[in-house]
Amino acid sequence: MYAPSSTTTTKTTWMTTRITSSVVSSVQRRVQLSPHNPPVGRRRRRRPRRAAAVAAATNNNNNNECVKTKREMLTLTAAMSFLTFQREQVRADDEVVVVEEEEVATAEKEEEPVIVMRDIRTVVITGCNHGIGLDAATKFAKTNNLQVILACRTMAKAKEAKYEILDAIAAEGGRVNDPSLLVPAECDLADLESIKTFATSLGDEPIDILCLNAGVQYAGSKEVNRTKDGFEVSMGTDHLGHFYLTNLLLKNVESAASSSTLKPRIVITASEVHDPESPGGKVGRGAGLGNFDGIKEDGAEFELMDGSEFDADKAYKDSKLANILFANELNRRLRLANSQINVVSFGPGLITRSNFFQHQNPVFTKVFDFAANDLLHVAETVSGGGDCLIKMALDPELENKTGVYYNNDLGGDTGHIFHEASTSKESMNTEEAEDLWTWSEALVGEEFDVYI
Ligand SMILES: NC(=O)c1ccc[n+]([C@@H]2O[C@H](COP(=O)([O-])OP(=O)(O)OC[C@H]3O[C@@H](n4cnc5c(N)ncnc54)[C@H](OP(=O)(O)O)[C@@H]3O)[C@@H](O)[C@H]2O)c1
Repeated sequence: MYAPSSTTTTKTTWMTTRITSSVVSSVQRRVQLSPHNPPVGRRRRRRPRRAAAVAAATNNNNNNECVKTKREMLTLTAAMSFLTFQREQVRADDEVVVVEEEEVATAEKEEEPVIVMRDIRTVVITGCNHGIGLDAATKFAKTNNLQVILACRTMAKAKEAKYEILDAIAAEGGRVNDPSLLVPAECDLADLESIKTFATSLGDEPIDILCLNAGVQYAGSKEVNRTKDGFEVSMGTDHLGHFYLTNLLLKNVESAASSSTLKPRIVITASEVHDPESPGGKVGRGAGLGNFDGIKEDGAEFELMDGSEFDADKAYKDSKLANILFANELNRRLRLANSQINVVSFGPGLITRSNFFQHQNPVFTKVFDFAANDLLHVAETVSGGGDCLIKMALDPELENKTGVYYNNDLGGDTGHIFHEASTSKESMNTEEAEDLWTWSEALVGEEFDVYI
């Protein structure tokens, strides 16, 4: 369990306190128990050699093949200063205390917790063999300081994504220093067993950034497409698949906090179409989960969660509403559990040149693409959508923000303004968010209490 903190500074202070209190209490214990406290009058002071102590700690970590950050060095230095101060306090009681350095060293060795800071952080990104996921994964890889787990529907797609990323970076004259940091993995979000196998394969690997990006829509389709477990495919993939994956990996995400100076993030690719009053959300039937009558009546075989007549376009909008309700409820539970994890969601704008419209009528898609890009200039590029994801995952501006939503709206010099925005009225319904969590547990067949 981590000490709650709202800033990185607080976290550093907390680490410092942990180190110092453990070392100091050890020394104080030894002082009190010493039968050799000489009489008042003679004082011998031995200051710990700070530089040597820091060097020793650094060597120790080198042996563990760990890299110390400057921040950690400062933490250790602060700890040693505090130790010196405490020794002097004990002596100020007019008792002469001699604490042999060897004894202190033993105490430090026994008591000092080893805090290992990773220099490479880990990102898991779903749906990254196409579209904005592939673009963002390429940008993650370019940083050369992230391990990127490419979670795709099949291993073949994930391997292909890896080579596309390497090729794209090379074509720009860039370089991935360590290609083994791009890790292809199979995670079919339309198959609970595949999700579980993937999550299990990660063991207790810390995950700093979990990007829930995969998404699918069959707008225009008259028939209900279903996942392997029988759920309607948009809700099953976009919401239920990610709900299950997130809960299975939550401990991995939380654990990343103890070995990084940055808070872990869960980033959810949602959409403005979750909001029936937004420009995209008011075309056709609006999103809404009603009273979950669809699940109450048909269980896992629901067509739409609200039980109304099936409409594939509404099913997709509902899945994006579920993304935001899930983000809000997850955030609420994490805050109650004093978690370090931040949860953020965003809408990347309308992007017609990803694979997103692949299941729609090809003639409609062509006309729509032309109108959105060349006539009305309302579309975002795939790269622009990838930039939105990268901002949500890496921007320090979001380090102390959680439960927020950003939207890529039209406007500004570039035609797009990506900014913090409000979400629909229904998405803010906390009771509905809790109910969705409970129904989602029932559908995936597992309960998840967020006790980190
Ligand atoms: N394009 C837009 O206008 C737009 C607007 C708002 C929000 N979004 C959201 O942005 C996200 C990315 O969309 P995009 O535009 O980049 O579309 P895209 O090019 O179609 O990419 C979607 C990605 O999700 C993956 N995916 C779908 N079903 C999956 C499954 N069962 N298991 C694993 N991966 C699966 C796809 O993999 P496969 O190749 O295996 O299908 C693909 O990699 C989605 O969540 C979407 O809802 C898009």
